[in-house]
Amino acid sequence: MNQRNEEGLLLSVENLGEKLFRLKIYSPEIAKKALPGNFCHLRVNESYSPLLRRAFSIHQVETEKNSFELLFKVVGPGTQILSEKKPGEKIDLLAPLGNSFSFPEKDENTVLLAGGMGIAPLFYLVSSLLEKKFDPQKISFFFGVKKKDEYLLVNDMVSTGIRLHLATEDGSSGYKGMITELFFQELRARRLKTKRTRFYACGPNPMLKKVSEISRKFKLDCQISLESHMPCGVGACIGCVVNTIKGYKRVCKDGPVFDAREVILD
Ligand SMILES: Cc1cc2nc3c(=O)[nH]c(=O)nc-3n(C[C@H](O)[C@H](O)[C@H](O)COP(=O)(O)OP(=O)(O)OC[C@H]3O[C@@H](n4cnc5c(N)ncnc54)[C@H](O)[C@@H]3O)c2cc1C
Ligand code: FES
Repeated sequence: MNQRNEEGLLLSVENLGEKLFRLKIYSPEIAKKALPGNFCHLRVNESYSPLLRRAFSIHQVETEKNSFELLFKVVGPGTQILSEKKPGEKIDLLAPLGNSFSFPEKDENTVLLAGGMGIAPLFYLVSSLLEKKFDPQKISFFFGVKKKDEYLLVNDMVSTGIRLHLATEDGSSGYKGMITELFFQELRARRLKTKRTRFYACGPNPMLKKVSEISRKFKLDCQISLESHMPCGVGACIGCVVNTIKGYKRVCKDGPVFDAREVILD
């Protein structure tokens, strides 16, 4: 991946819900090169606190406007600082980093599973497929959150005509329970084809562990995007390794996208 240091210009900061934010950043180079699955590693401020860069998936790209978007949740000091930024501020970015999802063929089915902020890279993948005129009826999107206030982009997804399956852990909307349970039910009931179907997932590690087990059991062609603490983000520190059937791999350099059947998650 031909990544480089970029100085992005913050165009907008939107509050989409409790602790949920979307940033639009002007950067012609990143907008030109980014692919679904890539991430950026950014400094949240000019001081050395926090010291390390923070990683975020590229969430959307508007090539003609030379801009791209990030979608994130405030979970600690770095994301808090990021949420308080103002349009016009400059952002030190290292991007695009990592590998990207490989696309399905036009006549294949696509099934995506997002848990919480896992929607960030998967929404970009869906938009890219639709832009390439993939049939929305061949795309199924499973999206799970803890409670309905955490839903993001649901109206945008409904308007595309894709098949949407929603779940909340507290049952406040959609299926009550984990999104992997709903997915597993659909698989077992044979309402989802497994042949000539590409599966994609992103979310918290326990969810991806389940997806990985299901993928091995049902022999699913499934790509998962992993998260890990990333001190350097460019393959130099081995601070982000994950165990796979082919040995230890660096999430930042060999991933973040891996074959779900190969990853061994604790
Ligand atoms: C490739 C990649 C893509 C990512 N994409 C997104 C995204 O699109 N949107 C988004 O909201 N977040 C994303 N993340 C997670 C994001 O990097 C962290 O939420 C962020 O670094 C937290 O920084 P902080 O200073 O606010 O919190 P910290 O103080 O660093 O952490 C707060 C809490 O979150 C945990 N945590 C921090 N980073 C991670 C991580 N990488 N994996 C698991 N737990 C973590 C810490 O252990 C701690 O409990 C991504 C991470 C990676 C590696
Ligand atoms: S974060 Fe340093 S090798 Fe991945």
